[in-house]
Amino acid sequence: MSGVLRVAVITAVFASAVLAAGGHKNVQSAMEKHGVIPDVIDTAPADEAEVTYGHLSVSLGNELTPTQVKDIPTVRWNADDESYYLLVMTDPDAPSRANPVRREFRHWLVGNIPGDKVDEGETLTEYVGSGPPKGTGLHRYVFLVYKQPGEINYEERHISNRSADTRPKFSIKAFARKYNLGSPVAGNFFQAQYDDYVPTVHAQLSGH
Ligand SMILES: *[C@@H]1O[C@H](CO)[C@@H](O)[C@H](O)[C@H]1NC(C)=O
Repeated sequence: MSGVLRVAVITAVFASAVLAAGGHKNVQSAMEKHGVIPDVIDTAPADEAEVTYGHLSVSLGNELTPTQVKDIPTVRWNADDESYYLLVMTDPDAPSRANPVRREFRHWLVGNIPGDKVDEGETLTEYVGSGPPKGTGLHRYVFLVYKQPGEINYEERHISNRSADTRPKFSIKAFARKYNLGSPVAGNFFQAQYDDYVPTVHAQLSGH
């Protein structure tokens, strides 16, 4: 191996070790930079949840379009198979980040997830993709995973993907307090602004 190549390889190995160790710091600094802390939660999760829409990844504040996020994503995290988890996707920027009088709008809520098998959890609020109204700029869409103290008897109305009932003015912080979920263990978020798929989302939510 040439000297230059050796230095390059050592640098790459060192950089990936630093990246792995810096996971928590990355989540925390991105959530602070984008105001997810304190707008949604007070304490950063230790891990970055892996959230993918087909081949597209959610990556600590990257921008995706409502068209790209219309279908349910795949979410994975560093899960303990013996534990139950709660997963939420929430938008603190309802109807806009500048004037969030309907903060938060709940997009998705699944409890009693064994490990990270979201499909086997109890869907409390069915998934709907981003529907940021025209002219309201970028909204933040935040995924959070909480580790439950055990299996929970959720006293919540089941909300379908054709209903906006009880979705606005949600607070994941208050919900976590109500069920003793503590702070989130994993999270991630993206941003999105209006595109021409949004009217379809709004029509769906009004039951059409
Ligand atoms: C709404 O949920 C049902 C299952 O409850 C599913 O079959 C359907 O594809 C969903 N619709 C959208 C647009 O996500």
